[in-house]
Amino acid sequence: MFPLRQRQRQPEIMDQPGLPPAEHDRALTGLARINFFSRSANILWPALIDLARDRPRLRVLDVATGAGDLPLRLWQRARRHGLDWQVAGCDISPQAVEHAEQRAHQAGATVSFFVHDVLAGPPLPPADAVTCSLFLHHLAEDDARALLRRLARPDDPEGPAVVLVNDLERSWPGLLLAHVGTRLLTRSRVVHFDGPCSVESAFTLGEAQRLAERAGLSGVRVTRRWPCRWLLEWRRPT
Ligand SMILES: C[S@@+](CC[C@H](N)C(=O)[O-])C[C@H]1O[C@@H](n2cnc3c(N)ncnc32)[C@H](O)[C@@H]1O
Repeated sequence: MFPLRQRQRQPEIMDQPGLPPAEHDRALTGLARINFFSRSANILWPALIDLARDRPRLRVLDVATGAGDLPLRLWQRARRHGLDWQVAGCDISPQAVEHAEQRAHQAGATVSFFVHDVLAGPPLPPADAVTCSLFLHHLAEDDARALLRRLARPDDPEGPAVVLVNDLERSWPGLLLAHVGTRLLTRSRVVHFDGPCSVESAFTLGEAQRLAERAGLSGVRVTRRWPCRWLLEWRRPT
């Protein structure tokens, strides 16, 4: 009766291993277009440029990177500011990694990509900042908590200085936007299905805040971002 009161998790088509490569590619391109119009890189940029004041060769790692468009855009923006950041992205899907590599190659960008399962694989390589967009909502609560700990490594002094998680907010405006926006911006049937599903399985701001606190990310802050998204920011205590 109140479908958005609680998370409704359904498997997303993009996570299914048998997805034909052409459909997967079209979906990644569609997602990248949505990120462009949602100005997703703008959501992450202020915290990164702030961190770069002390670390001019900032190491940024984007986890579950998909098309790799976000790390690419961050690298390009850093370059325009005269900054030489070391930017990388990883994803469980070899096809996504190949897509991201091609995108970076076409743009002439030195952003590297590698295959990595962030939940079951070895710890992430060292980075000053770890970013993760539109992935948390895929996960059950236990896995989502484990993901946040794996991104932040709060007990490891060698872990990242900053973690930024950007995701959808479960809300009626978000659901409406997902239905309309995905149809306007891409012909990918995968995105048409996964977009609204993602909103139904997304965390609210309060849920994301509590999840991160339970994961041991003390001092975490979750704030609303346009359009119908939120940003979770965690800084390692000094
Ligand atoms: C909805 S896409 C988001 C892609 C990108 N971050 C963006 O904002 O457009 C989710 C991505 O998570 C990846 N993924 C799923 N499970 C993963 C895991 N265990 N480790 C790393 N990546 C994973 C999928 O392959 C997919 O590319």
